[in-house]
Amino acid sequence: MATFVSHSPEETLLWAEKYAETLRAGDTVLLDGDMGAGKTVLAKGIARGLGISDEITSPTYAYVNTYGEKLFHFDCYRIASERQAVELGFCDYFLSGGICLVEWSENIAGLLPENCKRVRISGMGEGPREIEF
Ligand SMILES: Nc1ncnc2c1ncn2[C@@H]1O[C@H](COP(=O)(O)OP(=O)(O)O)[C@@H](O)[C@H]1O
Ligand SMILES: [Mg+2]
Repeated sequence: MATFVSHSPEETLLWAEKYAETLRAGDTVLLDGDMGAGKTVLAKGIARGLGISDEITSPTYAYVNTYGEKLFHFDCYRIASERQAVELGFCDYFLSGGICLVEWSENIAGLLPENCKRVRISGMGEGPREIEF
């Protein structure tokens, strides 16, 4: 595990943009961290790094936001059960060949593909963030 310390949302975006270059088609990245730590900021940076110019918003209410066939961004905070996630088609996304970013993946632990990558962000408020990857 390596650690990067970010002192601003912009630094997190830039770090994530570079991190995106290490990703391959079909990768699933679990974005771990408390509420407000910066998981969605990481997702924005990764999308940018993948050359996606759409605005990236939090999928909290939609569960998953899709960016063409290339990127799928999940927020499982409100997922009630793995069965609900299956019904929403999550397994198909994992097998689609697109890159999947998953916030609150602990709520769908049994559905995750093998060999997920993991990025953990910690810190809160205006304080620095530790990014472990
Ligand atoms: N170094 C930093 N990296 C990322 N976000 C930061 C940082 N410093 C402050 N923030 C703020 O923390 C919040 C993170 O929000 P968000 O990414 O939606 O969190 P999460 O998805 O983890 O709940 C944003 O308001 C962002 O501006
Ligand atoms: Mg979020």
